[in-house]
Amino acid sequence: MENEEREKYTPILSRRYNTFMLIHSASQLLTLAGGPQRGKALGALGIIEDGAVLIRDEKIVAVGKTDELRAAYPHEPRLDADGCVVMPGFVDPHTHLIWGGDRAAEFEMKMSGARYLDILAAGGGILSTVRATRTASIEALVAQARSRLLRMFSHGTTTVEAKTGYGLQTATELRLLKALLALEEDSRIDLAITFLGAHAIAPEFKGDPQGYTDLVSETMLPIVRQWWETHAPGRALPFVDVFCETGAFDLAQSRQILEKAKNLGFPLKIHADEFDNLGGASLAVELGAASADHLVRTSDADIVALAASDTVAVSLPCTPFGLAEHDYTPAQKIIAAGGMLALATDCNPGTTWNESMQFVIALACRMMKLTPAQAIAAATINAAHAIRRADRVGSLEEGKQADVLVLSVPDYRHLGYRYGTNLVRQVIKSGRVYSMDVGYYRSA
Ligand code: NIG
Ligand code: FE
Repeated sequence: MENEEREKYTPILSRRYNTFMLIHSASQLLTLAGGPQRGKALGALGIIEDGAVLIRDEKIVAVGKTDELRAAYPHEPRLDADGCVVMPGFVDPHTHLIWGGDRAAEFEMKMSGARYLDILAAGGGILSTVRATRTASIEALVAQARSRLLRMFSHGTTTVEAKTGYGLQTATELRLLKALLALEEDSRIDLAITFLGAHAIAPEFKGDPQGYTDLVSETMLPIVRQWWETHAPGRALPFVDVFCETGAFDLAQSRQILEKAKNLGFPLKIHADEFDNLGGASLAVELGAASADHLVRTSDADIVALAASDTVAVSLPCTPFGLAEHDYTPAQKIIAAGGMLALATDCNPGTTWNESMQFVIALACRMMKLTPAQAIAAATINAAHAIRRADRVGSLEEGKQADVLVLSVPDYRHLGYRYGTNLVRQVIKSGRVYSMDVGYYRSA
């Protein structure tokens, strides 16, 4: 795309193009250094008081105290964090970013007592979004996803996992992959793309879930692989995910799809235990999946299996909140067992349409009793590991991508404590500054 065209899609109030920059005078610089955090180690923020971070050529070059870095780099352009918290950009490791239409009418039905899986069984729910997505143009899909992506970005998310899954037929699923690649190209926000052809049983296969399972595993997966190699040459294969759930794919069908995907070289993810415990989390562990997500009805045995593995437990507290349900991921059990916990929005039109990781953190603190520090680590470095990018993003460490937030708060605990409004003052993405400053509170 031409540069002028790109301009109109950026979420910016003002912007500078510094490839060299010293961000200094952070009240607390949260480094999250040291890699993904397991079990009781969750919540190590690596705080540097009066901290600074030096960025060059879209990468972090140095992290330390303000006076030290100012002395060592006296000539760099400066960005004064002015007593605010500075931290890595949020990583959102589970979203259904791209879809057509909306389900506001179903929200009203659910609030009047209709159940999510009953609406799906009656041909609504995911299938209603599938109808709207199949008939939408690629331009409309990209435009709608872009506005959601930019809303995420303006709330501090600098890397987003994005799933297909509202096509459920080969051509539309490929269109969604194509739209996601185009969106990443023109937004410059990093996407981790996931193929979720197994999101629901396609309407053409009503009553024949095995038939659709065979289509996904035997036809779609090989086609997606070939398509990807042509359209995203040199780029790692996308994740393959399955909705392992009553009324969607049972455990054997989930296994069939994920095993086939693994054989084709795809990295794996799974939606497990959102409503019923089918054993999807242990399947994820067995197959070496990067993450198992939702984990509301997860059994103790599954928690033990997760804890002994490198599969990240991704909790999506906005989902029960969005459905007005009362059960959340047993995060304390996962932490006690030694599991790796991450947080994500699950942004989708059916169960939870929310773009803000800040709100996820606020819910995680209240509904799962995480401390703000634990929730922040789960939303950054552990979230990065859930999409296998902890080597590039999720912390402020030398050599990592310069995805940095300046929050309009003096103490990290304002994350979680405050909610429903945006606490981001500036987002620095790959060395560029995007400002959303509305002024900020400073303790007297
Ligand atoms: O993660 N559970 C499956 N997928 C989504 C919901 C999708 C929808 O309802 O459109 C989820 O909650
Ligand atoms: Fe989901």
